[in-house]
Parts: sequence; structure tokens; C-alpha cells
Amino acid sequence: MNADVTPMNADEGMRAVAIAAVLGSGCATLSLEQAPLGPPGDAARGREVFVSREGGHCVLCHRVPGVRVAGDVGPALEGIGTRLSPGEIRYRVVDITRLNPEAVMPAFHRTEGLARVAPAYAGRPVLDARQVEDVVAYLGSLR
Ligand code: HEC
Repeated sequence: MNADVTPMNADEGMRAVAIAAVLGSGCATLSLEQAPLGPPGDAARGREVFVSREGGHCVLCHRVPGVRVAGDVGPALEGIGTRLSPGEIRYRVVDITRLNPEAVMPAFHRTEGLARVAPAYAGRPVLDARQVEDVVAYLGSLR
């Protein structure tokens, strides 16, 4: 028997979406995380992705400290780095419809199952892996 192979240290186990169910007062709260898509991101680049129209344009819906003109369709993200782990933030940015099928927020790193995609964008996510990691680094720094 190989003592090294446990569900938690096996590579597959680390890459898989980690699911931790916390039971309380009769209802279950799911904490879903997603493993990094690449090397650690850069918070300054992530801020650019967050505010720019060519990037995620997240400010259309989210208020963050230091940005005056922002929408309020989504929750304000001040202090998000203390409320959610990087893996939980990544899980939401990649495809929030996994949490809430009715979500107003688009799936930013999903290529399958998208309807009405212009040919030039077919098979391409809105944000590439590096942009996702940069945004995760930026939001993680909001404390
Ligand atoms: C069209 C509006 C819209 C855009 C654009 C948008 N979001 Fe959201 N976002 C939402 C809404 C609404 C929610 C609440 C969950 C839902 O959709 O039901 C949310 C939730 C979140 C959450 C979870 C917040 C929490 O407190 O749990 C994070 C993190 C987040 N968004 C990050 C981003 C990032 C990063 C971008 C840009 C890449 C972005 N959002 C773009 C509307 C938007």
C-alpha cells in the first residue's frame, strides 16, 4: 500500500473542486473552491482587468474602494479578501452560474454551453487564465 496517496495530497484531489459542507441550524452551506488556473496573478494587473472595458469591466456592476464610478447591480466587493478565500473568489469569477443558475453575473472563464457567441469569440472565454488569476490576486488584496 502506498501511504503517499490520500485524497488530499493526490494531484487530482488538489485540482478538483474542493467541496466542504458545513452543517448548521438544519441547512447546509456549501463552500466551493477552484484551484489556480496558472501561476499566481498580479494584483495591479488584476485591477486593470477589473476596471477596463476591454477586460472584465467588473465595475459595471461592482463597487470597489478607490473607483468612483461603479454600478451596484452586484454586491460591493470591499473587504472581499477577508470574506472569501482565493479559491472561492476564483470559483465565482470562472463561472458563477455553478452557484446560482439565475446569476446576472456572466461566466468569465467558461467556453462550453455559451449561446449566441460571435464566431471570432467561439471557444474563447471572456477572460483568459492569466486574467482570472490577476483578478483573483486583486480581489484577494481587498481587505
Ligand atoms: C452584469 C453585472 C456583473 C458583472 C459585469 C460582474 N458581476 Fe460579479 N456579481 C454580480 C452579481 C449580481 C453578483 C451576486 C451573485 C449573482 O449573480 O447572483 C456577483 C457576485 C460576485 C462575487 C461574489 C461576491 C460575494 O460577496 O459573494 C464576486 C467575487 C464577483 N461577483 C466578482 C466579479 C468580477 C471579478 C467581475 C469581472 C470579471 C464581475 N464580478 C462582473 C454582477 C456582476
